[in-house]
Amino acid sequence: MANIAHNGISQNGSSQAKRPKMGDNFVTVVLGTQWGDEGKGKVVDMLAVDADVVCRCQGGNNAGHTVVVGDKRYAFHMLPSGIVHTKCVAVIGNGCVVHIEQLLEELKNAEEVGLERWQERLLISNRAHIVFDLHQHVDGMQETGRGKDLIGTTKKGIGPAYSSKATRSGLRMGDLIGDFDVFSERFQKLVDYYKKHYEGLEVDVNKELNIYKNLAEKIRPLICDTIPYLNKAIQSGKTVMVEGAQSNVLDIDFGLYPYVTSSNCSVGGVCTGLGIPPHVIGNIYGVVKAYLTRVGSGGFPTELNCEKGEKLVNRGHEYGVTTGRKRRVGWLDMVMLRYSHMINGFTALAITKLDILDTFEEIKIGVAYQLDGQKVVDSFPATDEKLQKVEVEYLTLPGWNTNTEDVRSFDDLPEKAQEYVLKIQELAGVPGKIF
Ligand code: IMO
Ligand code: MG
Repeated sequence: MANIAHNGISQNGSSQAKRPKMGDNFVTVVLGTQWGDEGKGKVVDMLAVDADVVCRCQGGNNAGHTVVVGDKRYAFHMLPSGIVHTKCVAVIGNGCVVHIEQLLEELKNAEEVGLERWQERLLISNRAHIVFDLHQHVDGMQETGRGKDLIGTTKKGIGPAYSSKATRSGLRMGDLIGDFDVFSERFQKLVDYYKKHYEGLEVDVNKELNIYKNLAEKIRPLICDTIPYLNKAIQSGKTVMVEGAQSNVLDIDFGLYPYVTSSNCSVGGVCTGLGIPPHVIGNIYGVVKAYLTRVGSGGFPTELNCEKGEKLVNRGHEYGVTTGRKRRVGWLDMVMLRYSHMINGFTALAITKLDILDTFEEIKIGVAYQLDGQKVVDSFPATDEKLQKVEVEYLTLPGWNTNTEDVRSFDDLPEKAQEYVLKIQELAGVPGKIF
């Protein structure tokens, strides 16, 4: 089973991983359960073989999803990974924020790798907000201003673009392809606002507007009202998938605020980011990396700042696809995973990168926190100060010391690796569906 690199095995103890039955008017959703970079792109790619439509519902090009198809290696940031399948329509929903030039650049790079006929298969919501260069500059300026308390954003302008959306001063795709005079006027206002509040911010408005006039014509054929398109697709029995970006613990509401991204990356974001009703959602796959990584600042209770951590970084190539930053690494955290499950109601877990643990003598799983003399198992601290204070209770399991790189079915895993997978499912309390 190709493309679920590094043993993306999702099992409940049964044999060869099977694809779920999609269709039946149910939308399949793939979400991150941890701190992002769980391998969502790979899982989506595997499922998308059967999909007619794959959507992104939130976030922007802060995501980094690597998809390997044969000898082709794609690095997607804004594009739904399912676009690699030529029968698949890719939708960028209203909940996303899009930097148009960088999207076109991503498409060009993907074309060089081998992406075909995307012009006929990419739809962008007329309600999706535009990320301007000024949003990216401001993202950098805000980070600098935070000093030692920096969030560690990807500097893709995500926070500022969603701020503009929330303050109702943002501009959307539909505005760009509408009356350009109105667009220009509102852009000028946006620039004025930011220049007033961010000293030293330089924007050449005329130059920018010329660029956007050109971009409008390039992007016009891709922009439409994706809401009726998607709802009709679902009603007519097409198989529709949603590819989450970021993760539950980076969610603006449920994540470890302020060390979060600026969108709802949990299941609610699927409805608000695409304009589809909740009852059409079917399977919700929670993607779990067999250990834990995060980029950016904030507490990390199971973090490994030692040789074992280095080993995880090296074996797992834990460097960001978007920023190239070395990721922080640690053991799996079941308190976090149960919290993710409570919010998202996963119908199955997809466990990825199990083989990275192949050479560990012992493997630990964080099963509970101790906080202020209390045991925490079924909630997650709301503040970083609290998370920094927790002590982790671990369960230690023996390693399997066997190369499982090419194993693609649960039955072929060494017994101890099977035990690890089963333990995760048991502790997470997620029903054991498989794919
Ligand atoms: P995928 O989809 C991991 C993190 C950033 C930072 C915080 C806010 O590849 O899993 P932002 O630029 O969004 O304002 O940064 O969120 N972050 C991610 N971490 N994977 C991602 O995406 C991320 N997208 C944002 O590092 O801590
Ligand atoms: Mg990533």
